[in-house]
Amino acid sequence: MFKIVKRKEMAKGTVVLNEIEAPLIAAKAKPGQFVILKANEAGERIPLTMADTNPEKGTITIIFMVVGKSTALFATLKEGDAYMDVIGPLGAPTHIEKLGKVVCVGGGTGVAVLHPITRALKQAGNEVTCIIGARNKELLILEDEMRAASHDLRVCTDDGSYGHHGFVTDVLKAVLTENKDMKLAVAIGPVPMMKACSAVTKEFGVKTMVSLNPIMVDGTGMCGGCRVSVGGKTKFACVDGPEFDGHEVDFDELTLRLRAYTEQEKESYTCYRK
Ligand SMILES: Cc1cc2nc3c(=O)[nH]c(=O)nc-3n(C[C@H](O)[C@H](O)[C@H](O)COP(=O)(O)OP(=O)(O)OC[C@H]3O[C@@H](n4cnc5c(N)ncnc54)[C@H](O)[C@@H]3O)c2cc1C
Ligand code: FES
Repeated sequence: MFKIVKRKEMAKGTVVLNEIEAPLIAAKAKPGQFVILKANEAGERIPLTMADTNPEKGTITIIFMVVGKSTALFATLKEGDAYMDVIGPLGAPTHIEKLGKVVCVGGGTGVAVLHPITRALKQAGNEVTCIIGARNKELLILEDEMRAASHDLRVCTDDGSYGHHGFVTDVLKAVLTENKDMKLAVAIGPVPMMKACSAVTKEFGVKTMVSLNPIMVDGTGMCGGCRVSVGGKTKFACVDGPEFDGHEVDFDELTLRLRAYTEQEKESYTCYRK
C-alpha cells in the first residue's frame, strides 16, 4: 500500500495534489517520468506524471485534474489513506542538457508535468523563460513554483482575469520574436494547445518537445493502447515517450484516439456519481 502523506486541493478543488510514500520510485524517478496508480482492488489503472519527488523523504507528488471516474475516486482519498498500487517510474526521462535559451510552455494541469522539467533545465544552466496559462486565474496552478523554476515567468488567462489576456501561443510568438537565439521549446498541456504551440515554433524553426497523454493500459509497451504516430512511424508513448518532437506528431490522430471511449467514460462517471 502507498500512503498519502499530504493532500491539497488546487484550482477550486478541480485539481488535487497527493504526496505519496513510494521510496523505491522516489529514489529512481527522473523528470518526465510517470507512474500508473490504482486506488483499490476494483479500480482502473491510470497514468499520472510525477510533479515532484523527494528521495530523502521517500515520497512522490502527483497532481491530477478530476475528469472522470478514476480521478474522481482518487480525489476522495484523504491524508492517511493509501493507493493499492503505484507502479513506476515509467517512460523515458526527459533529455536534459545545457543548450542556452529555452522556453517552457504549460497549459492547465500540464503545468504540473512541466514543473520538474523546467527546474531540471534551469539547474543544467539554461536560461529559462516560462509561459503558463489557464482558462482563468482560479484555475492557474503552481505559479510560485514555476517562478522559482525559471528566470522569467509570463502568465496568461483565456478570460484576462490575470496576466496576459489570451492564449499561451500569443506570448510564445512574442518571446520567440524577442529571442531569435531560442534553442528549445517544451510545450505541455491539452492536445490542441501542444498542436498550436508546435505550429508556432515550426514557423520560427525552434525544436519543440511535447509530452503526449494517450490512453494507457499496461504502461510497458505490451498492449498497444498508447499508440501514436510520430514522423510517420508508430510509437508507444509509454516506452518510446511520453515526450516526442512536436513537429513530427500526428496530433489529429491522437485527438481521435483520445475520443474513442468518450461514451463509455461518460457512462462510467455517471454510474459512479449515483
Ligand atoms: C503519461 C501520462 C501522464 C499524465 N499525467 C497527468 C497528470 O500529471 N495530471 C493529470 O491531471 N492528468 C494526467 N494524465 C491524464 C490522465 O491519465 C487522465 O486524465 C485520466 O486517466 C483520466 O481518468 P478518469 O477515469 O478520471 O477519466 P476518464 O473517464 O478516462 O475520462 C474522462 C474524460 O477525460 C478525457 N481523458 C481521458 N484520458 C485522457 C488523457 N490521457 N488525456 C486527455 N484527456 C483524457 C476523456 O476523453 C474524457 O472526456 C496523464 C496521461 C498520460 C498518458
Ligand atoms: S500503455 Fe500499453 S503499450 Fe503503452
